[in-house]
Amino acid sequence: MARLATKLIHDDDKDNRVSDVAPPINVSTTFRYDNDDLIPWTERENLDFMEKKPVYSRLAHPNSTRLESIFSDILEGHAVIYNSGVSAFYAAIIHFKPKRLFIGQSYHGCRAAANIITRTNGMKQHPLEDIEKHAQKGDIVHLETPVNPYGTSYNIREIANKTHAKGALLIIDSTFAPPPLQNVWGFGCDIIMHSATKYFGGHSDLLSGVIVVKDDEVAKQLKDDRIYLGTNVANLESFMLLRSLRTFEMRILKQSENATKVVKFLNDNRGKFDKVLDKLYHSSLQTEPFVKEQLKGGYGPVFSLSLKTKDQCKKFPPKLKYFHHATSLGGIESLVEWRAMTDPYIDQTLIRVSIGVENANDLIEDLNNALQELQNEEN
Ligand SMILES: Cc1ncc(COP(=O)(O)O)c(C=O)c1O
Repeated sequence: MARLATKLIHDDDKDNRVSDVAPPINVSTTFRYDNDDLIPWTERENLDFMEKKPVYSRLAHPNSTRLESIFSDILEGHAVIYNSGVSAFYAAIIHFKPKRLFIGQSYHGCRAAANIITRTNGMKQHPLEDIEKHAQKGDIVHLETPVNPYGTSYNIREIANKTHAKGALLIIDSTFAPPPLQNVWGFGCDIIMHSATKYFGGHSDLLSGVIVVKDDEVAKQLKDDRIYLGTNVANLESFMLLRSLRTFEMRILKQSENATKVVKFLNDNRGKFDKVLDKLYHSSLQTEPFVKEQLKGGYGPVFSLSLKTKDQCKKFPPKLKYFHHATSLGGIESLVEWRAMTDPYIDQTLIRVSIGVENANDLIEDLNNALQELQNEEN
């Protein structure tokens, strides 16, 4: 069987409609019917035909089909593609319609999305600590690991056991450590989601999300619902995502290696920055055995640090040469974000760092210089 790097380049060969080597950019929203094979909608048994004969791009289009071929294989399930990670999260909640959602620290946008469902449908929300006490059959546990913005890991198996003991389902948002870093099926999860905007996209220029389920019938229902939620991935974005996937393995491995080196440098040199650097968070600093087991292929490329004061958080980003001060993560370029800029729930002195594919030594020097300058200003 082919390995990841090969799959990323060849899983969609079967979807070629033309002799072009690079997938064409399909901008058409509508596609001519085959007048020799006219089957009305009501006579269709299912929607699989759209993958060979697209009808309208909100339903499916050639490059969304290609993406689903690749994601289904590399994420080992039935993948359904969306126009953002938040759309993917919504789709899962709408489909499984839990009475209760158990959700802890996680991307603030998913929590805000859950709040809309609570407001409109009355879904109750609980922290992860309440699973054993309150979860019931049909409820959903949403676990993000490694978690945004810290980049630290939760024990999936432990939470999966608690979830399943109550007949609930476990969604893992694995955005922060896609394969080959972390393969979550083996730990007892039921549904996987990713914001493909991050590492799969990898160039900070597209939005997309993906859900992966074990059951083909659930995937079919999700695709059917997606037509009317209007959340299929867009034509141009799908071409760019396809192009990004070709180099995904090289990028994520380099980003993971770089991040691990950068975190090690900061951790080893904490003493040099004692008036500035307060805390450092990353899976590579966790000592529990489950962390290495989950992150077999390498640590995630995002970590966080907290500085001693809010004022230092404002002064830190402009001192950096290579890190842009911007939100988001997963791109080839390194970013820092004073997280208070976008996250209403977070520690006001937290700086999130997303490591790119630059030379790790340049990134280390850059962070060292900026922290040293801040330290000198405190003396
Ligand atoms: C862990 C995680 N999940 C989901 C999302 C939402 O993804 P998107 O911005 O593609 O909607 C994000 C966005 O930052 C994220 O970090």
